[in-house]
Amino acid sequence: MIILKSAEEIQTMRRAGRVVAQAHALVRELVKPGITTWDLDRAVEEFLMKQNAVPAFKGYHGYPASICASVNEVVVHGIPSREVVLEEGSIVSIDIGAFVDGFCGDSAWTYPVGNVAPEVQRLLTATEEALFLGIDEARVGNRLSDISHAVQKHVEEQGFSVVRDYVGHGIGREMHEAPQIPNFGPPGRGPRLKSGMTLAIEPMVNVGGYHVEVLTDNWTVVTRDKCWSAHFEHTVAVTDEGPVILTVL
Ligand code: MF3
Ligand code: CO
Repeated sequence: MIILKSAEEIQTMRRAGRVVAQAHALVRELVKPGITTWDLDRAVEEFLMKQNAVPAFKGYHGYPASICASVNEVVVHGIPSREVVLEEGSIVSIDIGAFVDGFCGDSAWTYPVGNVAPEVQRLLTATEEALFLGIDEARVGNRLSDISHAVQKHVEEQGFSVVRDYVGHGIGREMHEAPQIPNFGPPGRGPRLKSGMTLAIEPMVNVGGYHVEVLTDNWTVVTRDKCWSAHFEHTVAVTDEGPVILTVL
């Protein structure tokens, strides 16, 4: 069942989304060669606590940290580590979720570490563009898979591939609510979008093939071919005035 939110509930989700966006602004400043993903996790957790926000990932199915930090060929769910030092030319996908007054905001962004190769920058640009094209389909009267199709079309036009095994999701009082939102598929399928739906749209895009595998820590998702991967995510409300991105400053 897809839970519709009232205007007031969406305002609360907007506050959660703003805190998540502020945490991303902090991360953006901190990402530099030499910092560890552990340092980023500490900084975000400290910030969220100061805002009276509750980190959404920590303890979720036993996940041990407040952010996911996924470097290069890691697609999603990289666990922050003192051993993972960011290097010039790498990319790091930082995923942050937080509850404020009982509602969740969820957003991911892939940051370049210093200067990256032109092909890598193309990956980041294509994935971010695909996210915004997907968001633009989050309109009353459209069907859910119109989002999926818009993402896939752009990604594949750019010569990249869309991860199949992980999807976006409804979000609200729970981080993961119905519906699941694949980043691929034909348009015109699935439920019709209604005012009050709140969706986390999150394309994961690979330079090489779309296949992924999970490492023995049971969290870290890597590309099977070890080509690099990017991840961009916003929490969005479907309203009569069009899509409203909640995870912004
Ligand atoms: N943004 C991710 C998601 O939507 C974050 C989940 S990571 C976990 O699923 F550790 F909390 F599982
Ligand atoms: Co998410």
